[in-house]
Amino acid sequence: MKEKSGKIIGLGLESSCDETSASVVVDGRKILSNRIYSQVELHCEYSGVVPEIASRAHLEKINTLIEMALDESRLKFSDLDYVAATNRPGLTGSLLIALQSAKAISFAMDIPLIGVNHLEAHLYAPFLEGNEPAYPFIGLLISGGNTALYRVNGPGEMVLIGKTVDDAVGEAFDKVSKYIGLGYPGGPLVESLARESALKKVFFPKIMTDPDDTRFSYSGLKTAVINHIKQNPDQNKADIVYSFQERALELLVRRLFTASRKSGINRMVVAGGVAANGRLRELIESERKNNEEVLIPSPLMCTDNAAMIAGISYQYYIRKIFDSYAIDVSAKP
Ligand code: KG4
Repeated sequence: MKEKSGKIIGLGLESSCDETSASVVVDGRKILSNRIYSQVELHCEYSGVVPEIASRAHLEKINTLIEMALDESRLKFSDLDYVAATNRPGLTGSLLIALQSAKAISFAMDIPLIGVNHLEAHLYAPFLEGNEPAYPFIGLLISGGNTALYRVNGPGEMVLIGKTVDDAVGEAFDKVSKYIGLGYPGGPLVESLARESALKKVFFPKIMTDPDDTRFSYSGLKTAVINHIKQNPDQNKADIVYSFQERALELLVRRLFTASRKSGINRMVVAGGVAANGRLRELIESERKNNEEVLIPSPLMCTDNAAMIAGISYQYYIRKIFDSYAIDVSAKP
């Protein structure tokens, strides 16, 4: 395996849910391009992602995004050392679009194909923003489809500590938002409405209070919010979502620091769409002690993007861990 330019250049592709993306990354750290097409407008009227619409939109956009990513990097297919795509978890029809494109490029250019666990890629995002990749760390993955805590020992070595037993935290934000009539995706809308609360009072009880439990649960809190609104239809909605958000985020912060302090691993990474939440960042900062490090990607890098796919793949490339042309559609987080 001989690098073409002295540097290792990877093309990453992503289409697991409702973002199509292509990115070129050098040495697993430097982003040359990170083109993202968000389908949010297509799914808005359904208040959630419609799989068939998603896969069709990926198919329409992927070639253009690949061309844009290479042009922006001033590179050609022949400059690439590897190509990577998410192969799990995700919507099957959507996953296939980036993965099949990556297979074609791998075959045509005779370069390695690397299939990527989307969740592991999210947790790599801070290492593309100036932080050197360093293992082990405690990883909290929070999005619309996942809420899970891991001990990450190295590339491909994620040990699950706990995950949600029902809804993901982003899903709870989306459902509360939909019930109030704010729109989709709900997270940013709930966050900005909560900021308008004059009361700033937390009246929902703490959730999942057993300190030895490592799991998460959001279905009960979501139902409590909906019942509360039914019983108090005239109460200011900003005050209600403030109270909801505090409780939803408090559980994340508590589980994260408990896992870190119990394991003695004081480096933490928080990633996924919900990690864009500004209030979460405040709560983490006020809980963090001086000897603890919490890496959270910039809001853009919290959402699905292909730079994180190309980035984590570099770690596999240097370890010579390549993929067959298989797709794992049964994978769960
Ligand atoms: O990781 P992501 O872009 O897509 C997947 O779910 O795979 O995450 C989207 C989720 C949505 O549920 C959205 O409402 C939530 O992240 N989200 C937020 C915020 N921004 C996005 N949740 C809370 N606060 C935010 N600022």
